[in-house]
Amino acid sequence: MARYIFAGNWKMNYTIREAKEYFEKFLQYIPQIDLKDRLIIIAPPFTALYYVSQMLQNTPLKLAAQNVHYAEKGAFTGEISPPMLRELRVEYAIIGHSERRHIFGEKDELISQRVAGAYKWGLIPILCLGETLPEREAGKTLEVVRNQLERGLEGIKDLDPAKVIIAYEPVWAIGTGQNATPEQAEEVHSFLRESLRKLFGERASAVPILYGGSVTPENVASLMAKANVDGVLVGGASLDPEKFFKIVSIEVLKESHKGCSLPDYSSLSKDILEIPQKYKRLVIVGASPKPDRPSYIVMEYLLREGFQVIPVNPRYPEILGQKTFPDLESIPSDFSPEVIIIFRKSSEVFPLVERALKLKPKVIWLQEGIENEEAKTLAESQGIKVVMNKCFKKVHQISKWNI
Ligand code: 13P
Repeated sequence: MARYIFAGNWKMNYTIREAKEYFEKFLQYIPQIDLKDRLIIIAPPFTALYYVSQMLQNTPLKLAAQNVHYAEKGAFTGEISPPMLRELRVEYAIIGHSERRHIFGEKDELISQRVAGAYKWGLIPILCLGETLPEREAGKTLEVVRNQLERGLEGIKDLDPAKVIIAYEPVWAIGTGQNATPEQAEEVHSFLRESLRKLFGERASAVPILYGGSVTPENVASLMAKANVDGVLVGGASLDPEKFFKIVSIEVLKESHKGCSLPDYSSLSKDILEIPQKYKRLVIVGASPKPDRPSYIVMEYLLREGFQVIPVNPRYPEILGQKTFPDLESIPSDFSPEVIIIFRKSSEVFPLVERALKLKPKVIWLQEGIENEEAKTLAESQGIKVVMNKCFKKVHQISKWNI
């Protein structure tokens, strides 16, 4: 899934004619948006889905429904089934929105059935959760959202992190003009991330967590700057094509990067630049939190491309917002990396490769300056490819680090 997600929830707004006018304006902005690291999703009302689906056919925009039933078909007056939506090329479904919960009385049990039904039929549920003002004031926010998360995902056993999205939408922030502060959002998002990990294992930390509630072009950058805010679910401001364009096209600058100049990806080799097209999960051994180090540049590039990266380094708890593991042995068994890049001293290469082989990656990458033919032969005897000397275009860039 893309690194950042910008979703517009139109709620009960726009007829087909109005949707047409909207896209006549909005689609003109698309060439100006750098879509390499982001996904734009629009959730029109059911009545406009067919028309919008036709209109968006040759565009990068994705379609969501604002709700979905869990059954394939049947006597459920007023409901829409997952296959009906799939037929319209709808890929996502908002479920458990606070307006469904509070105005229409949808309970966790029904919401969890809807989530499981969508998931089963190949629609990506955008599970919404969030506390009311009295709940926040009573200090119950985390308890409430954990409950909603656990109950909402109850019907999913083997969670694929690329097939579920969570949206934290504090009820008091929806349509009120009073957004959660970036700090309030981050507190809940990091808690949700940890809760997902506990429920489904390490892989679940890759589930995107969006923030929703009075998002505007003015506040979106500060919300997105937080490490655990992977995107936004926008209501009111998504109804205005110009405002929504401003929101979806912001430059995302995570706070963890503050003070660092943006790295020069032009120094990366073609092989590294192509990794994201081939693989999804990667481990970097010897990852550094210092922006001028090669491992940092490689890691940051891969994160921006939507890669799941586990950094290995015993000295830092977190690098670039990713939880760090002290060694290869402690990486959760369910992470199963496809690529392991080793940025360590030459003398450590052979034992590290031996340990890396146990994780059965497809490729082991050895940083420049630590070629090791013995390790290569060992890995290749087990059918695992070894790439050497291919991270950067010029080898001299890492020499100072490797002494
Ligand atoms: P507003 O952006 O209008 O506050 O709505 C948020 C929302 O409910 C998105 O689903």
